[in-house]
Amino acid sequence: MGEGIGDYTKYITDLRRHMWIDGVETELRRLIWQIAVTGKYISAKIHESNRKLAGFQNIYGEEQLSLDRSADEILKNQLQYSGFVRDYSSEEQDTIVRIGQGNEKYYVTADPLDGSSLVDTNLAIGTIIGIHKESMMAEGRRSMVAALYITYGPLITMVYSAGKGAHEFVLNREGEYVLSQENITLEERGSIYSLGGLRKDWTEGHRRYVEHLEEAGYKLRYSGGFVPDINQILIKRGGIFTYPALKKSPRGKLRLLFELQPMAFIFEQAGGMATDGREPILALRVEDLDQRCPIYIGSRYEVEKAGEFLKDHP
Ligand code: F6P
Repeated sequence: MGEGIGDYTKYITDLRRHMWIDGVETELRRLIWQIAVTGKYISAKIHESNRKLAGFQNIYGEEQLSLDRSADEILKNQLQYSGFVRDYSSEEQDTIVRIGQGNEKYYVTADPLDGSSLVDTNLAIGTIIGIHKESMMAEGRRSMVAALYITYGPLITMVYSAGKGAHEFVLNREGEYVLSQENITLEERGSIYSLGGLRKDWTEGHRRYVEHLEEAGYKLRYSGGFVPDINQILIKRGGIFTYPALKKSPRGKLRLLFELQPMAFIFEQAGGMATDGREPILALRVEDLDQRCPIYIGSRYEVEKAGEFLKDHP
């Protein structure tokens, strides 16, 4: 690092240096680095799509992959050659895919491009990654060793945790991920709420909980993209994101393996909490790749409060 871009590099901490100082194990460090770099390729694909990629034909009349399928292909190919990943599982694949030789240490889950339908509107979207050892079909608490997400917005940012705090990096003009916030720590209580699901489908306990937040003066912040909505809670140091159990879909909408476990890992590392309204997300066992789960994730006060309302009015 540093050649040709002058002295200023001595004032910055890039992702590799940070992970090294943080004592992240060598292979895990390289894997996280590889995924972060892949985020640059995915971002290039988003720009290239120029809003027209999804289901469209290219100039040669060939069908092009939708943006989320392209992101999945990019990630899978990059991880395949990393040499560190045994199995890969993503929202875009029906089954777990063996991409290694069978003796690699890590298992990677991906939501390659969450919220890709928001590209048309030019809202932020993201990539969510979970890194497991042994198996991914397990309780997150036992199997997860790291998680990260990348937000493609006005800036490209990456938040990772390898079990030693949660840290944010910004992709700079030289293509380096530069440390912007170290050891992000949530306040005990925040002032924003982000709610999925239609009000008419809420359960009694959830409705009362939301009324409690509204009476307390919480401000609504919801874009419909899980990554930017969650990122807002983390970067603003508190509040609550929820996609609850609904009358018509008691398991909620969001996927435990691809979306919720990685974010729960990061939020716990930032001093926050993530539950399904009762149990910690990381204590739930993944039985099925498509498993959905209600989610309450954010600072401690709001998540614990949700638990109280749901206990009284299940
Ligand atoms: O899981 C896909 C997703 O788009 C998430 O990114 C987001 O939080 C949620 O669905 C939005 O759902 P809805 O459109 O029901 O608000």
